[in-house]
This record gives sequence, C-alpha cells and structure tokens, in this order.
Amino acid sequence: MNSDYNIEIKELHSQDTKILEEALILMNRTQGDGLFNMNYLVSRIERQDALALGAFVDGDLVSVGCAEMITEFSYYVPFEENILERLKGHKVGSLCTLCVREDFQGKGIGQLISKRRMDWLKNNKCNLILGISWLSGLSHTSDRVFNKLGFHLISDVDEFFKESAIKYPFNCPGCHTQPCKCSAALYQYDINN
Ligand SMILES: CC(C)(COP(=O)(O)OP(=O)(O)OC[C@H]1O[C@@H](n2cnc3c(N)ncnc32)[C@H](O)[C@@H]1OP(=O)(O)O)[C@@H](O)C(=O)NCCC(=O)NCCS
Repeated sequence: MNSDYNIEIKELHSQDTKILEEALILMNRTQGDGLFNMNYLVSRIERQDALALGAFVDGDLVSVGCAEMITEFSYYVPFEENILERLKGHKVGSLCTLCVREDFQGKGIGQLISKRRMDWLKNNKCNLILGISWLSGLSHTSDRVFNKLGFHLISDVDEFFKESAIKYPFNCPGCHTQPCKCSAALYQYDINN
C-alpha cells in the first residue's frame, strides 16, 4: 500500500446523500452503467445483516465495498451443482460489490476495504465467505484481490451475467456487449471460528 496517501475507511450513512450519489456513480461507471440503483446501496447501509463501506483519500471517495450475510444460495448453483446442500447449516457471508476509482486501482485499496468487510463478517460469526469475481478482461479485476486475501477458487462460469443482463440491462464496460457475455468466478474463504 502506498503510504503517500491518507486513507480512511468508513461506514456509509443514508443521510450523506452527496457521498451516496458519488458512490453510485463510481459503482456504475466501473462496473456497468445501470447495474446499481440507490436502493441497492441504501439497503446495504440500513440492513442489520449488511455493510456498506467507503474508502476516502484526503476526504475524497475512492472506493465502495459492501458485504452481507446470506441465506439464499440458488444464485451460486451455476458454479457448483450441490452448493445448496453443501452450505446447509453454515452461516454464510458475501462480499457483494467492490469498486475502486480508476486512478487508485492496483494500489491495495481493494484489499484494504475487503479485509474490513471480512472482519465484519467474521465478527458476525460467519464461518465462510463467498465472493463472485467479474472476469471483465479489464486490467484490474477482483480475482487478484480474492487470491491475495486467501480465498480459493470454486469454479468459473462463462457468460454468468447473461440471464440477469437480459432481465436488467446494463452497459458492460468489460465486454461492451448487451446482454453481457463476461465470465465470472466464485471464490470461497473458510473461517475457523
Ligand atoms: C477490482 C478492484 C475492485 C480491485 O481493487 P484494487 O484496489 O485495484 O486492487 P488491489 O490493488 O487491492 O489488489 C490487486 C492486486 O493485484 C495486483 N494487480 C492489480 N492489477 C494488476 C495487473 N494488471 N497485473 C498484475 N497485478 C495486478 C495489484 O498489484 C495488487 O497486488 P499487490 O498487493 O501485490 O500489489 C478494482 O481494480 C476495480 O474497481 N476494478 C473495476 C471494477 C471491478 O472489477 N470490480 C469488481 C467486481 S467483482
């Protein structure tokens, strides 16, 4: 991590409307215009079982990362046929979205904010954490972050986002195709409570 920067990681708050608007613009610009709406962000702030963090450099928002506890796993079946069975009885956390402002990518901020998300899930007694990496083909992707943080790969799936992109169209900055034809990889981290 570059020590020239003064980085602060803080929980986002519903009343910080200007920061939330900036967060939403950053999320959609880096991951796909039309992918996220304000309800997505506000619900991660307000739900007791979810978390929304912002990373600030000298007061400017440069990253947004969310986490949540999940009990519904059908979304993950394309990665692993028996996942519903396998996760029964586990308390499962998810690293559900992450983006870093373009000029700060590759400087360790994604890992920093992800460690904080993992700590929160551990403190909430999760015994495993899942994360889906968007294999965008862009120069900075989250698979590297998952690997660095000790996650292991479950599997990857071609055109993972296609079905949801037909239902909820967005402009993918990776494949530039509608519906999105990017692949995704499911990662898992096991916590020994
Ligand atoms: C993916 C993303 C969140 C990662 O955050 P980040 O702050 O850029 O990642 P980090 O710097 O913490 O970690 C990435 C690691 O991979 C390395 N890395 C990054 N880009 C690399 C590249 N092109 N080649 C080789 N290594 C690279 C970094 O050096 C770092 O390793 P290090 O700690 O040894 O230096 C961010 O780049 C981003 O917003 N990308 C666009 C949106 C996106 O893909 N979001 C994730 C959706 S699942």
